[in-house]
Amino acid sequence: MNTPIASTGAAPSAGALLKLHDLTRSFVSGEVEVKAVRGISLEIVRGEFVAIMGASGSGKSTLMNMLGFLDQPTSGEYWLDGTDVAGLNARQRAALRSRKLGFVFQSFYLLSRTSALENVELPLLYTLPLVMPRERHRRAGTALQEVGLAARVNHFPSELSGGQQQRVAIARALVNKPEILLADEPTGNLDTRTSIEIMGLFQALNDNGLTIVMVTHELDIAAFCKRVVVMRDGRIISDTRNDARHIAARELATLDAAEQQAKLA
Ligand SMILES: Nc1ncnc2c1ncn2[C@@H]1O[C@H](COP(=O)(O)OP(=O)(O)OP(=O)(O)O)[C@@H](O)[C@H]1O
Ligand SMILES: [Mg+2]
Repeated sequence: MNTPIASTGAAPSAGALLKLHDLTRSFVSGEVEVKAVRGISLEIVRGEFVAIMGASGSGKSTLMNMLGFLDQPTSGEYWLDGTDVAGLNARQRAALRSRKLGFVFQSFYLLSRTSALENVELPLLYTLPLVMPRERHRRAGTALQEVGLAARVNHFPSELSGGQQQRVAIARALVNKPEILLADEPTGNLDTRTSIEIMGLFQALNDNGLTIVMVTHELDIAAFCKRVVVMRDGRIISDTRNDARHIAARELATLDAAEQQAKLA
């Protein structure tokens, strides 16, 4: 059974980590105006794991880019942990972003001539107060350990599988210990098993308190989330709690057993 979630009003409710009110984003190219996001109101509290779904072009990435400060709204309000983002200058926004947010993309965007460890260290180069090299190595090593890649720290991206490369990108997003992980189709380039492994990692991180907002096209992947928001034409058309979410560790065990059976047969 899935439970609908009531739409949010203007007043920020206590405990909302992320709150949007009537957010819009239009793009103008020449004479044409594209209304990519047409008035989204949404509240996400700590500990949620939200899937954003919807057809291609429905505005999911536009929304995520605004959530991640990669783009700014045309109108509307965005409150991040009680701070009105519109009231910040670029430097304050960058500081809030590096403290609160991590971002993961479908294409991992790793630097190819750079080891896993150095890729994960990158965000720490821009962190204030400055983080010294030894401390950068330590934190990046810990983040790689968290995503199960302790044994691959010195590998280059080309020496890693797709799933491992996405884990490096996730470690890079986690290295500043953000409160929210934003992921735009993180399993879009991965096979089924690897996708479930990444969902297992996300569920473990979420169990440890990380709030996650993730875009996906796949119902099978959204099934691992606690809440599913569906967009159409720049608006939210449904918002439901997933009361019967799938547990990735359990599904992987079932897959393992099936593969074992197939080998014996
Ligand atoms: N920088 C831009 N300039 C002009 N139009 C844009 C821009 N970015 C997005 N759009 C338009 O906004 C709409 C929403 O795009 P968006 O990328 O958010 O969709 P999406 O839901 O992420 O799609 P997909 O599932 O294919 O990734 C589309 O019509 C797109 O063409
Ligand atoms: Mg997109």
